[in-house]
Amino acid sequence: MATHKLLLLPGDGIGPEIMTEVKKIIAWFNARGGDTFETDQGLVGGSAYDAHGKSISEADMAKAMAADAVIFGAVGGPKWDKVPYDVRPEAGLLRLRKDMQLFANLRPAICYPALADASSLKREIIEGLDILIVRELTGGVYFGEPKEIIDLPNGQKRGIDTQVYDTYEIERIAAVAFELARTRRNEVCSMEKRNVMKSGVLWNDVVTATHAARFSDVKLSHMLADAGGMQLVRWPKQFDVIVTDNLFGDMLSDVAAMLTGSLGMLPSASLGAPDAATGKRKALYEPVHGSAPDIAGTGAANPIAMIASFAMCLRYSFEKVAEADLLDRAISATLDKGLRTKDIASEGSTVIGTSQMGDAIVAELNALS
Ligand code: NAI
Ligand code: MG
Repeated sequence: MATHKLLLLPGDGIGPEIMTEVKKIIAWFNARGGDTFETDQGLVGGSAYDAHGKSISEADMAKAMAADAVIFGAVGGPKWDKVPYDVRPEAGLLRLRKDMQLFANLRPAICYPALADASSLKREIIEGLDILIVRELTGGVYFGEPKEIIDLPNGQKRGIDTQVYDTYEIERIAAVAFELARTRRNEVCSMEKRNVMKSGVLWNDVVTATHAARFSDVKLSHMLADAGGMQLVRWPKQFDVIVTDNLFGDMLSDVAAMLTGSLGMLPSASLGAPDAATGKRKALYEPVHGSAPDIAGTGAANPIAMIASFAMCLRYSFEKVAEADLLDRAISATLDKGLRTKDIASEGSTVIGTSQMGDAIVAELNALS
């Protein structure tokens, strides 16, 4: 029986509140027998800054690097709006992403049956939706050099960002997408703008070559990213896995996420490269939402995005597919009973708080197993 080391970084605002609920889920899996999860906890974001003047300490960075997975809450809040740029709360998360080299960002968009009417789209368009966006997270125009604003001789200024992708960066994100597709419906759609961007031409070539060399069993299609945005809203169920670059992925994943409703429901995973010796990937799991300072301390936060992020951790870091499915079903069953936090409440539902939602999901785990 294996022991898996988790580093919990609750962060700021509602971060600690939703982390408390994940701890109930982890305790449930530990009590059940089988592999165990050993948890350690650290400080990140504004709470770390308050404690020692940095958005994450070297000691906690070292723990993150040594952990089998990092479970991250959220950082930031008005309290830290004026702290120096390099120690602002978000810097802690950026440091984690950079040092752990988390190049693959996974954002599922799933429609829970009980919430099919919460979308701005018609029920038949989103009912049963289950897609996964794989976004490249460490390259592209957000990081490419030169990146500057320069003065021109004519008195004007010029803002410059540079889209840069090397073969290996495209190859490794494509491989992640193909591998994930094999565990799903076995289809990948790659999105870029090869009609107007050289990096798009290379993206298309490398994805095609990677597919031919190692993943020809997976069905591959290509779409221009702007058309992809339209298709996501028109008929999202045509997609299984979408793979795209950092910039397009930022936008397309936000579009896909909102197809199904509330920010409090959206999990994410960020994966690094497999370790040469062990084959294990560094990984960080976090809700898509932020620290929600407007509701922090009121007990109203929806813990589902955080708990579903732990389900992704079970699935992608520990290959515990049955356990991940069980946890996803427990979330779904809780919603089926009409239990809702305020952010997802609808007519006839029962509004409960953060802690009761965690308890209700644990109760469904007991009922389903
Ligand atoms: P936010 O995601 O924190 O909140 C946006 C709105 O959604 C708020 O009205 C909030 O109450 C609600 N909301 C978010 N999560 C919820 C949940 N689990 N349950 C119920 N309602 C929820 O984004 P906002 O307000 O733009 O940013 C607040 C702070 O969070 C800022 O300091 C921002 O920089 C930070 N932030 C941090 C992120 C991270 O840690 N990865 C990501 C996004 C923002
Ligand atoms: Mg975004």
